[in-house]
Amino acid sequence: MRKPIIAGNWKMNNTIREGLELINDLKARSLDEDVEAVVCVPFTFLSEARKVLRDTGIKLAAQNMYHEESGAFTGEVSPIMLKELEVDYVILGHSERRQIFGETDEMVNAKVKSALRHGIKPIICVGETLEERENNKEVEIVTTQVEKSLKEIDIRYIEDLVIAYEPIWAIGTGKTASSEDANSMLSSIREKITELYGKESSEIIRLQYGGSVKPETIKELMEKENVDGALVGGASLKANDFTQLVNF
Ligand code: PGA
Repeated sequence: MRKPIIAGNWKMNNTIREGLELINDLKARSLDEDVEAVVCVPFTFLSEARKVLRDTGIKLAAQNMYHEESGAFTGEVSPIMLKELEVDYVILGHSERRQIFGETDEMVNAKVKSALRHGIKPIICVGETLEERENNKEVEIVTTQVEKSLKEIDIRYIEDLVIAYEPIWAIGTGKTASSEDANSMLSSIREKITELYGKESSEIIRLQYGGSVKPETIKELMEKENVDGALVGGASLKANDFTQLVNF
């Protein structure tokens, strides 16, 4: 069935030296091979990480990319550049990109299309703010983000897609959604996929929860029917914690 996927989002952390220490530490540990482990590292570390991870099962991801292949886009990184580094996944539309850097659903959709076209699997992030949840708008907000991010994406790409539900109020705050709430939102996302692509596709696509996931909470989370994995920030920066998460 769906292979669990635990992705560590390092965000803007670690120098090359620190990253090498962490990656080598992870490499030395035994990670469950039935779980896909992914490290989402800063651009500056992708090349080194690729070399170290080449003969391991750990997958490599970038945290963002621009949708164009090349050109006058100062400061951006293209899918061709990521492909050159044999990047497997790319996080797209993380709430920090949306909130701090003004990324819209339309921009995320362009990036998703471009990543898929270049053979890079997107981890598409969606999630509501606290205010939206308090106004009972969370399902509408999140399913609309899903629909807009997937606009004109062909059904053949379903197995390459990962959607991460990350409620913004739970990211880096220590507040985590209950496993029931996470499962319930992922169920709504799966229903949206059924509506867009049919039942079979909704059973193929992998859905993650993200937001203050810790070794203490992973087991209960992963037991839920709709949870296929986790996108983890803070706890992915420690080899011990990340190992426990992968080996849930
Ligand atoms: P966190 O971050 O685990 O530190 O809450 C999750 C994320 O932003 O992907």
